[in-house]
Amino acid sequence: MTIIETDRLKIRRFSCEDWKDLYEYLSKEQVVRYEPYGIYTKEDCINEAAKRSLNEAFWAVCLKESNKLIGNIYFNQQDPKEFSNWEIGYVFNPQYYGNGYATESCKAVIDYGFKKLKARRIVAMCNPENASSWKLLERLKMRREGHLLKNIFFKQNEKGESIWIDTYEYAILEDEWRG
Ligand SMILES: CC(C)(COP(=O)(O)OP(=O)(O)OC[C@H]1O[C@@H](n2cnc3c(N)ncnc32)[C@H](O)[C@@H]1OP(=O)(O)O)[C@@H](O)C(=O)NCCC(=O)NCCS
Repeated sequence: MTIIETDRLKIRRFSCEDWKDLYEYLSKEQVVRYEPYGIYTKEDCINEAAKRSLNEAFWAVCLKESNKLIGNIYFNQQDPKEFSNWEIGYVFNPQYYGNGYATESCKAVIDYGFKKLKARRIVAMCNPENASSWKLLERLKMRREGHLLKNIFFKQNEKGESIWIDTYEYAILEDEWRG
């Protein structure tokens, strides 16, 4: 099983036992606010940890010193495969914000993606209102390539109408990362 190590973190595959740590953050409105899903129950987290343990796109980010799972990174190859385009996403436990853990772990996964998985281009999408997310993408030296206007919706209002939202698209190429 691949484990990516950084100074402070161990980034590994999920296991079924991770559900409690997942519940600690996926159950919070503040955390899922910009995600396409709502808050998770205990039951949802048990199922989610089991699903993620079988899905190589999900990486569990853990503190080296305590093994505590503090967040997750999604890193998945997009279709068509011959384009070698990958997408990165991330969700962390708010108790651990402001320490550079998301930056440190995403850097390591991007590096692994370019060097080991032979990615050519890595992209990320976020809501322009989610400043913590796009600031992280800029710390990672990703470029803002687009501001898409009202291109998607995740949620509906009480009348059942779609709440259309904008998207920032970010990307970085392998040669930019190396440079
Ligand atoms: C997006 C998210 C992961 C960013 O978390 P974060 O804590 O801001 O990011 P980092 O862990 O990289 O920490 C960076 C902060 O720590 C500070 N920091 C402290 N030590 C640091 C270090 N060694 N290295 C880098 N930054 C450090 C930075 O200055 C920065 O502070 P600032 O927020 O005051 O500018 C987090 O807000 C989150 O999980 N949100 C909910 C889920 C979500 O919206 N996901 C994105 C969907 S598109």
